[in-house]
Amino acid sequence: ERPRVLITRRVFQDLQARLAEHFEVRDNPADAVWSGAELREQLAGCVGLMCTAGERVDVALLDAHPQLRVVSNIAVGLNNIDLRACAARDVTVTHTPDVLNETTADLGFALLLAAARKLSEAERYLRRGDWSKWAIDQFAGADVHGSTLGILGMGRIGQAIARRGALGFGMKVVYHNRSPLPAEAEQALGARWVTKDGLLAEADHLVLVLPYSPASHHIIGAAELAAMKPGATLVNIARGGIVDDAALARALEAGTIGAAGLDVFENEPALHPALLAAPNLVLTPHIGSGSMATRRAMVGLAVDNLIAALGCGPDAGRPPAPAPRPAPA
Ligand code: GLV
Ligand code: GLV
Repeated sequence: ERPRVLITRRVFQDLQARLAEHFEVRDNPADAVWSGAELREQLAGCVGLMCTAGERVDVALLDAHPQLRVVSNIAVGLNNIDLRACAARDVTVTHTPDVLNETTADLGFALLLAAARKLSEAERYLRRGDWSKWAIDQFAGADVHGSTLGILGMGRIGQAIARRGALGFGMKVVYHNRSPLPAEAEQALGARWVTKDGLLAEADHLVLVLPYSPASHHIIGAAELAAMKPGATLVNIARGGIVDDAALARALEAGTIGAAGLDVFENEPALHPALLAAPNLVLTPHIGSGSMATRRAMVGLAVDNLIAALGCGPDAGRPPAPAPRPAPA
């Protein structure tokens, strides 16, 4: 009997078909969103799990399924998975880094431009039929070109955003990260490491690209928003919970900062109601990696990772894209 694997959500059929060459595949063609209890039930007898950022792989799930050997996340972020609990049970965790860097950086820039130039607000105004006359300061926003771009979290996506800003828009780039980039990388990007306080003070537009962890929870809250420039733009394409959504809504309402663009939210898919009422805010439903080519690349990689990590098929010798090791206690 072939080993059994579970795919939690509907993916691309032609890519999923590669799994069927090695495994008995249990899937979710209706694309229902399973509760924790439903996921626990569906995982019965499965040695492999291919899931999205929407499913939690926690101690309760792992303890209910000691037969589980591999979790293949169709995402780069791993905050939905208890990495320490997986490591303790010898469960291999893989993810889909790199293939989504440029696509996610594109969305970061799209949100930056849209927020700074009030595109959503202007379009809503037009669609309401409110445009009766042109005015000199109508929807007048902030310039992106030639301004200072701040990046918090200078991984590969952060660097892709830095390149867009420096090369395409003539921006000065400052960033904060636990460890500064090597000098040659800084030079190539035209980017300068600054403290977090320096970043908040200097950035005209601040893009957040750091993974969620207890250490990054509400790393942008009321105090940080107050430390930003009054006209500044904040963009979050990383994870909900990095920003205090309620504090951001208040800051937009009060004019503490100029504008914001959010692709991720604290309790998504639910939105903090204050965000829906806040001015100068552009919202997208977690579509950072959402080009068709990149979503297919992510699923293809997650399929390859699952096959390789379970030691099946022609990919058996290829090491899966490794997940970061769990942080020390
Ligand atoms: C998406 O948010 C991802 O982590 O890939
Ligand atoms: C990943 O490469 C990141 O920038 O977090």
